[in-house]
Amino acid sequence: MTELTQNPAIGSAATDDSNAGHPMWSSRLAFILAASGSAVGLGNIWKFPYITGENGGGAFVLVYLLCIALIGIPIMVAEVAIGRRGGRSPINSMRQLAARDGLSKRWVWIGGMGMIASFLILSFYSVIGGWALSYVGNSAGGLFVGASSDSIGALFGNLLSDPYTLLLWHSVFMVLVIMIVARGVSSGMEKAINILMPILFGLLLVMVGYAMSTDSFAAGFQFLFTPDFSKLTTEGVLTALGHAFFTLSLGMGVMMAYGSYLPKNVSIVKTAFTVSILDTAVALLAGLAIFPLVFANGMEAGAGPGLIFQTLPIAFGQMPGGVFFGTLFFILLVVAAVTSAISLLEPVVEWFEEQKGISRRKGALIGGLSIWALGITTILSLNEWSGFHPLGMFERFEGKTIFDLLDYVTANLMMPLGGLFIALFVGWFMSKQAAENELSIGNGFAFKLFMFILRFITPAAVLVVFVYNLM
Ligand code: PHE
Repeated sequence: MTELTQNPAIGSAATDDSNAGHPMWSSRLAFILAASGSAVGLGNIWKFPYITGENGGGAFVLVYLLCIALIGIPIMVAEVAIGRRGGRSPINSMRQLAARDGLSKRWVWIGGMGMIASFLILSFYSVIGGWALSYVGNSAGGLFVGASSDSIGALFGNLLSDPYTLLLWHSVFMVLVIMIVARGVSSGMEKAINILMPILFGLLLVMVGYAMSTDSFAAGFQFLFTPDFSKLTTEGVLTALGHAFFTLSLGMGVMMAYGSYLPKNVSIVKTAFTVSILDTAVALLAGLAIFPLVFANGMEAGAGPGLIFQTLPIAFGQMPGGVFFGTLFFILLVVAAVTSAISLLEPVVEWFEEQKGISRRKGALIGGLSIWALGITTILSLNEWSGFHPLGMFERFEGKTIFDLLDYVTANLMMPLGGLFIALFVGWFMSKQAAENELSIGNGFAFKLFMFILRFITPAAVLVVFVYNLM
């Protein structure tokens, strides 16, 4: 198959028993683009800055970076390796590998849990994608020009308090995602990522440049990179861990699905490093662009999910060419969100195809509409139901709306749990020979180190964070 005419992960169901005819990414670059398309999204530009702000900055960032290095990258390698060896959709790859090594059928649950997590995540992801969409219009319409931080704040407040506008944009976002996934073979997807990702990167650099021109750049930089451990809570550590999974799209089979299309001669280890470094760079650049503005305008770093929507427009309102840069930025944010969202809808559609024999188009429609409907609970959490805290009787969930709970349960519980089992599977259960073949870094020091991390460090880290949080 040719590189830019077909996106196999989106296009093929691979329900057959032999994977001889399984399509392949044409190159390492094609895989990197698709995997980065999934990884780089709202998690980097929307979520990372606001949770960093809520958790006091530097110490949180340090833990997050450690989680990426010690937990995220090894699990990405393991997940892609399972996918490539299984050569099918996550559930069937797990089934196939477990059978091949004579293991319990229960391993397919990893795939099942991942699918449920995808469903839940996309329901609120799409609402936030809708915010970004509405900001394309706000920027193009010149609403930011010369606006004060108060009026920018009011603009965001008005959006959140209006369920109908939120519903409109959530619907537009979901329709976009359903259309792309339903078409399956989406020509141009990789090409789009290939062109737009560097532009997003460049634009983030421009914004960091702007942040440097404010006199609060040093304050922002310090906030991000000078750890103050007195500000870090055990809950913050769990959030950092959960975010490492969220931002790299790990622990739920997405990377497994993409890995099943990776040609045998491509290095999984190198590729996982490339994708993770790219993803981390985008998040850090976003942080560097945002925090100086937060301090320059006397705003609250812990302002919550609205942080980027309340800070960046101030910059766009003041910088030369701000209407252009602002509009471009929010368009790119939407594109980054859409390429992540399609990787979230894909497992659901695949499951419909495999288990229910439902066509891709119907599956995308049924799955997408159900997710859209669930998204309404997130919309209402922001206004009418903001006082509704379904699990409020538990201390841990006090004050958490349905939106907060969906985010918490998926990122902080389901994804790390999925990742834990993926690490255990490759570290302890899959045959060592198979691991060696997939990693193809020989069987010397590098391999032993990697297996040690996967067998002991990664599971122990996830467990320790879990246990601490239960106590
Ligand atoms: N990684 C994506 C982001 O950072 C979100 C995502 C999570 C996508 C899980 C797929 C799977 O925005």
